[in-house]
Amino acid sequence: MIAIVACAIAAFAAQTPQMPATLGIGRPAMPAEISAWDIDVRPDGVGLPPGRGAVTEGETIYAARCASCHGKTGKEGPNDRLVGREPGDAFPFGRDPQRPKTIGSYWPYATTVFDYIRRAMPPNAPGSLQSGEIYGLVAYLLFLNDLIPADAVMDATSLPKVVMPARDRFVPDPRGGPKSVNPRSRP
Ligand code: HEC
Repeated sequence: MIAIVACAIAAFAAQTPQMPATLGIGRPAMPAEISAWDIDVRPDGVGLPPGRGAVTEGETIYAARCASCHGKTGKEGPNDRLVGREPGDAFPFGRDPQRPKTIGSYWPYATTVFDYIRRAMPPNAPGSLQSGEIYGLVAYLLFLNDLIPADAVMDATSLPKVVMPARDRFVPDPRGGPKSVNPRSRP
């Protein structure tokens, strides 16, 4: 009886295909491929690439590639307004959610403006701008927002030093996150 069961198991095992170590599709990503996607720039400037750009250089690129959607001076649209400060650098957005949020009034970090433009703008060709061009664009937009002088040059060292008016408007909520109704979505 034991021999029969053993035979049956052996027969079953012979029929069951062994899972191969790999499925034979795909390959490990190459370092160059990973670095092409690994482009995030953190608020403290970690991740900023080499390169530099002046306000005047950004002005030329802005006119050619951005003004059609954001307006000649960044205020006219038709798309998002990029330029403008609140009187006294107030922060009325909680009371008035319709109020336009600009780089000068709402963005807490200059570094993440770089990150955003690099990955998302212009929307018809995201990723097409060189690092130096993006530094120039950020410099020009910071200049239009009265945050840096006309002769400023932005690079991985100078950009993180620009203190934005909304820098301290975003704080961790000490109450923690809302309680979820779905017990599986949160521990
Ligand atoms: C074809 C139109 C178009 C062009 C060209 C364009 N943008 Fe935009 N941009 C948009 C739209 C639409 C949004 C809003 C996207 C969203 O909210 O998801 C936006 C958002 C932005 C924002 C974020 C605004 C905010 O405060 O939320 C920045 C910064 C920006 N664009 C910069 C640029 C720069 C710099 C260029 C030129 C290199 C550029 N854009 C070219 C349409 C455009």
